[in-house]
Amino acid sequence: MGLDQLLEWIPAGGPEEALARQVMQDRLPRHVAIIMDGNGRWAGQRHLPRVEGHRAGIDAVRDVVEASARMGLEVLTLYAFSVENWKRPQAEVSTLMMLLKRYLRSELSTLLRNNIRFHVIGRTEALSTDVLDELRDAERKTATNTGMLFNIALNYGGRTEIVDAARRAMASGLDPQALDEQQFAGFLYTAGQPDPDLLIRTSGEMRVSNFLLWQIAYAEIWVTDTLWPDFRCRHLLEGVLAYQKRDRRFGGIAAPVAAGVK
Ligand code: IPE
Ligand code: IPE
Ligand code: MG
Repeated sequence: MGLDQLLEWIPAGGPEEALARQVMQDRLPRHVAIIMDGNGRWAGQRHLPRVEGHRAGIDAVRDVVEASARMGLEVLTLYAFSVENWKRPQAEVSTLMMLLKRYLRSELSTLLRNNIRFHVIGRTEALSTDVLDELRDAERKTATNTGMLFNIALNYGGRTEIVDAARRAMASGLDPQALDEQQFAGFLYTAGQPDPDLLIRTSGEMRVSNFLLWQIAYAEIWVTDTLWPDFRCRHLLEGVLAYQKRDRRFGGIAAPVAAGVK
């Protein structure tokens, strides 16, 4: 996968193509994580119930997943349901779960066609068995795919993940004095994956809402006012281009200066 695969999929001559041609393939973020926000507001603007925003949000998921795989991202993580989202009305929660099942069923062929490996992160044991069965089925059927890893964060909380990792670390019998950051990361849900380079949040909110707290230590953050149901490949490309203009220092000094300093 790479820009050629993206270019053959997006409309020729449109804004996506112009953006795609500016992307530097050798400087792609390895891992993009997205806080999909604004479904409720999207529905509200149209005087529709909130769940209609979630329904419309599925089209955005579909587009972004395929665009990411074609672009050549290694990992895409979508935040679909937080541990705090159980506070929402029960009807909204069950619609979200129903939409998730429907998405998986209808999009499995897209995942397979694009060589995408599907993986769930979060406290999955708390999800209902019908949802869990669907998730495990999609994981199993895509397990041998070698292309992009698509994580969906479900019943996910960053603090919960860190507590779960601490429990696992303690139960592993490891000498506490020997535990370092790299080993600890191996107990997280994202063990073995690169940390997100780019964190995108839609609908303008400037917060991380308990998402990947450990992993985003040095992620570049890009917030767009676009509401999630309106988010498409074009916006993802805008985020990637903004990322490619950033100067990532990881606590050091800017690269051109560093090159001249002994
Ligand atoms: C994001 O949209 C979807 C989920 C959190 C599941 P919201 O439902 O949070 O939409 P807003 O933020 O209320 O507009
Ligand atoms: C973050 O959005 C959670 C997901 C996208 C699943 P929320 O809408 O739940 O976050 P807050 O409440 O605005 O912080
Ligand atoms: Mg929200």
